[in-house]
Amino acid sequence: MTEKELEELRSRALKELEEVRDLRALEEVRVRYLGRKGLVTAVVKGIKDLPPEARRVIGRRANELKNELEDLIRRRREELLRAAEDQAPGVDLTLPGRPYELGKLHPVTQILQEICEIFLRLGFDIARGPEVETDYYNFEALNIPPDHPARDMQDTFYLENGLLLRTHTSPIQIRTMLSRQPPLRIIAPGKVYRCDSDVRHTPMFHQVEGLLVDREVSFAHLKGLLTYFAREIFGPRTRVRFRPSYFPFTEPSAEMDIQCVICRGRGCRLCGDTGWLEILGAGMVHPHVFQAVGYDPEEWRGLAFGLGVERITMLRFGIDDIRLFYENHLYFLEQF
Ligand code: DAH
Repeated sequence: MTEKELEELRSRALKELEEVRDLRALEEVRVRYLGRKGLVTAVVKGIKDLPPEARRVIGRRANELKNELEDLIRRRREELLRAAEDQAPGVDLTLPGRPYELGKLHPVTQILQEICEIFLRLGFDIARGPEVETDYYNFEALNIPPDHPARDMQDTFYLENGLLLRTHTSPIQIRTMLSRQPPLRIIAPGKVYRCDSDVRHTPMFHQVEGLLVDREVSFAHLKGLLTYFAREIFGPRTRVRFRPSYFPFTEPSAEMDIQCVICRGRGCRLCGDTGWLEILGAGMVHPHVFQAVGYDPEEWRGLAFGLGVERITMLRFGIDDIRLFYENHLYFLEQF
């Protein structure tokens, strides 16, 4: 490196600085000359290898050039910032950018997906059915004839054309068995509708239906399957109990409780001092249901269950008012 070359390097740097119009270009020039692998940086680093006479002169000139450029770049940066401020007064260009907000899945969707994944792992397929149903699929074929008192349990929305909004996902059992041959195992997630609204009920909510049909299916399989499910959702130490119950489409029928997630069984307001919380209904498929779909009840056995997704989501996250799910306040939804 000679003095002349150093002078040329200076002229080039000054000319490039002259042409800079924005902060990005300025930064490029800075990196080119003063960066870790910059041209001026290289000269300064090479000083120690020069012959002793050159070392003094070139060394001094190179350091002067480095300081001069640093100075010019700093001033140019201030100029550019001031010019930008003049064009957009009041805009503080040094403020950090706005955070980019990522969307999230609704808590009910999260738990619905989690439930489906558990059963998919166990070899169940997903089945679906229409939300507008006929009386036949929603009631009749499920062993609920027109005058059956069980119809009162489900406050049905009837449509003017004689159809209705399905009150549960159980009609998907019927549709699936009519279109497939056993053995089969399906779960059917979906929206259901009941004319009901308070802290614990919304007129629309979600259920997941389960159905397994095979030759040798027993109540023990049902208990094992649902116990496994409860422990996947609520943790491996979750205790469960089965109580006898009644559903027209299963015999025998049961409801499954889990030990209260709040008091762990000691008794509290959530569990009404019983220590237990009901989370689903289940049972062995009633022979009348098999007859309705043309399966031979002597040959086939089935287990079935139905659970409310909102209820499970509330228990998992400790939410005490179901209506929060459907008011769409971000300060509620953002927590999940
Ligand atoms: N369909 C019932 C309801 O909505 C829930 C249910 C109970 C589904 C027992 C089932 C079952 O498949 O076996 O209340």
